[in-house]
Amino acid sequence: MISIANVKKVFSTRNGPVTAVDDINLNIQEGEIFGIIGYSGAGKSTMIRMLNGLEAPTSGTVTVAGREISKIKGGALRKARQEISMIFQHFNLLWSRTVRENIAFPLEIAGIGKKERKERVDELIKLVGLEGREDSYPSQLSGGQKQRVGIARALANNPKVLLCDEATSALDPQTTDSILELLVDINKRLGLTIVLITHEMHVIRKICHRVAVMEEGRVVEIGPVLDVFKKPEQPITKRFVQQVTEPEESKETIQHLLEQMPEGQVVKLTFIGESAEQPIITELIRRFNIAVNIVQGKVSHTQNGAYGSLFVHLTGPKEEVTGAVAYLEQHQVDSEVITYA
Ligand SMILES: Nc1ncnc2c1ncn2[C@@H]1O[C@H](COP(=O)(O)OP(=O)(O)O)[C@@H](O)[C@H]1O
Ligand SMILES: [Mg+2]
Repeated sequence: MISIANVKKVFSTRNGPVTAVDDINLNIQEGEIFGIIGYSGAGKSTMIRMLNGLEAPTSGTVTVAGREISKIKGGALRKARQEISMIFQHFNLLWSRTVRENIAFPLEIAGIGKKERKERVDELIKLVGLEGREDSYPSQLSGGQKQRVGIARALANNPKVLLCDEATSALDPQTTDSILELLVDINKRLGLTIVLITHEMHVIRKICHRVAVMEEGRVVEIGPVLDVFKKPEQPITKRFVQQVTEPEESKETIQHLLEQMPEGQVVKLTFIGESAEQPIITELIRRFNIAVNIVQGKVSHTQNGAYGSLFVHLTGPKEEVTGAVAYLEQHQVDSEVITYA
C-alpha cells in the first residue's frame, strides 16, 4: 500500500543544511496499523508529511496506493490527497464552523451535492460517536470530542490511508485510550491503513501491528510490535519498551528489597503471548523447596498478544534456588537473574 524507497529530506536553513530524514526504506501493508516512534526531532513529522505530499523528498520515492506521490503536483496531488487523510495533535478544526460544517468541509471541496453531503455527515457523526453534538462549535467540545471531529472529517472522502501525527499527544490518558479504540475500530470496520507517529510507547503497544523506531532521521529498528517488545535491540528501543513494561520505581524497589533481605535471588521473568505467569509460579513452588515473593509485575496487552515482566524474589536452600532458576530458564521465554546476593 505504501512504499518508501531511499527517501531523504534535507532542509536548507540559515545555519546550513538539516537532514531531517536520512535514507529511509519502508513498506506498509494494506490494512495495517503501522507506528513510527521516536523522540522529538527524530524526523517523524517530516516523514509522515512526505506520505501525503505536504513535503517533497530531496531524493527517493514515495508511493501510496499505486501513485508516486513524490512525483505528482497540482491537481493530481490534490486528488491523490483525498485518499490520504491526516489528523493532527491540535486537531486543526475550523473554529467558526460547527461540528457538522467541519465534517462537511472536505465534501464541499470535493464537490459533493448538499443532500448527499448531509447523509454522509450523519453517517460519520454516528461512526465517531458524536451524536447530539452536531451543532456545537469546536470551542464547546472536549479534547477527545475535537479529535473525533478531526477523524470524521478525515474519513469524509473514504480515504485509503489515515495519517496520524501525534493525534493523542494533547489528550489525557483516558481520552487517549478512547481515541485509540476508535482508530482500531475504523481500521477493522473500513479496512483502512493507518500510519501513526508518536513519542509514546503506550500508543504503539495499544494499537499497532508493526512499529519502526526513528532516531536522527533513520529507522534504527522495525518489526511486529510483540517481537520488538520481546527483544528490543537498540538502546533507544529498550528505553521506549521500558516506558510500558517496567514500572518507573522497579529499580528502587528491588534495590531496597536486596538491602532488606540480602539472601536469595531476584529474577526478572518476561512473559510473551500465550505463556501465562500463574502456572509457572505454581509449578515452581510445587517442585522446589523455596519461597517465591512477587516483587513487582506488569502485563501489557498488544494487538498480537500479551507481554509482561515480573520480578520475583526466590529464597530457600541454595541448591533449591539454583534449581528453580534453571527450571525457569528452561520454561520461560526469557528470564534474567538480576543480582546474586
Ligand atoms: N521546515 C523546516 N525547515 C527546517 N528544518 C526543519 C523543518 N521541518 C523540520 N525541520 C528539522 O528537521 C528535524 C526533524 O523534525 P521533525 O520531522 O519535526 O521531527 P519530529 O516530528 O520527530 O519531532 C528537526 O531537526 C527539525 O528542526
Ligand atoms: Mg513531530
